[in-house]
Amino acid sequence: MSDAHKPLVFSGMQPTNTLHLGNYLGALRNWVKLQDQMPCIYCVVDMHAITADAGYAKPKELLTASREVTAAYIAAGVDPARSILFKQSDVGAHAELAWVFNCVARLGWMDRMTQFKEKSGKHKERSSVGLYTYPTLMAADILVYKATHVPVGEDQKQHLELARDIAQKFNNDYEAPDFFPQPEPLILGTATRVMSLRDGAKKMSKSDESDFSRINLTDDAEAISAKIKKARTDPNPLPEDIKGLEGRPEADNLFNIYAALAEVPKAELIARYAGQQFSGFKNDLAEIAVAKLTPIAAEMRRLLADPAEIDAILAAGAERAGAIAEPILQDVKKRVGFSA
Ligand code: TYM
Repeated sequence: MSDAHKPLVFSGMQPTNTLHLGNYLGALRNWVKLQDQMPCIYCVVDMHAITADAGYAKPKELLTASREVTAAYIAAGVDPARSILFKQSDVGAHAELAWVFNCVARLGWMDRMTQFKEKSGKHKERSSVGLYTYPTLMAADILVYKATHVPVGEDQKQHLELARDIAQKFNNDYEAPDFFPQPEPLILGTATRVMSLRDGAKKMSKSDESDFSRINLTDDAEAISAKIKKARTDPNPLPEDIKGLEGRPEADNLFNIYAALAEVPKAELIARYAGQQFSGFKNDLAEIAVAKLTPIAAEMRRLLADPAEIDAILAAGAERAGAIAEPILQDVKKRVGFSA
């Protein structure tokens, strides 16, 4: 990253269904901590949400989900007085820059995006064009603020690499060295890729049909405990050391979740439970998950009781975000030749 750019964090989540433990441990919790280190901008990416069927042509659900995600950010500890918290569709500069980036990015780059392949599945021709160009909008989200650091889970790494390639090509093609920074992914902690509780080979995801595959941030104590106790495991006792987790993805996932929630090193946990059965381990994990997550759900409920207040926070955030993005967009327009 060039010294020419001041440290600035940007990240976002899609308002499709409720957030889950993967979103929390892979991203949101790190967002909260980063507020003590540098200025942060956190976005509810509702324009991304309409790229997939889950968000498309569901106006009421989308708006409700956007408010819910905003409440989750705040309940988890994002402070709207310190950080800028807003909704993507409220700041038009994202879409304008995304168009320019659609012309900077090459088809060959886009064709390599694994998330598109996963999300479009066997029916590529029926996917929206937006789903395909999704990563250029994501690059615009970050670069329209010249953000330097992007805290995300592991699954977003490839999109971040694309954003770096776009930044570099723009800088080269428009002879503006250092105009855009090379945004750095921040993939932090022991739970950067939380797996499904039903299948250790699958990522925990909002779109999984089984609700038992994930812990939602809105789950109550009973649901959290039930899901952890029913989580798939294997018949062996718990391992003696870290090597003993090899080839045991479900056990590995539960250790990663436990270590992240308890904020203790994984090796220490492995030593604590060495040779024991899953049942006692799961009881302890359920207890800590309930202790960490249910206060967030309670605070979300309290915030959601006043949607007008959430809308006011988002409106104020959009104004602050727009004030940063607008001059950068104007500068882009000059460099591209849209204005003198
Ligand atoms: P989204 O909405 O799918 O996920 C939001 C964040 O949660 C992380 N995450 C996970 N982390 C660990 N384990 C999991 N199972 C898991 N599932 C999700 C994601 O990595 C992400 O950090 N494209 C983004 C949204 C976006 C964005 C941006 C992010 C749009 N513009 C600009 C950063 C910067 C997405 O779909 O995330």
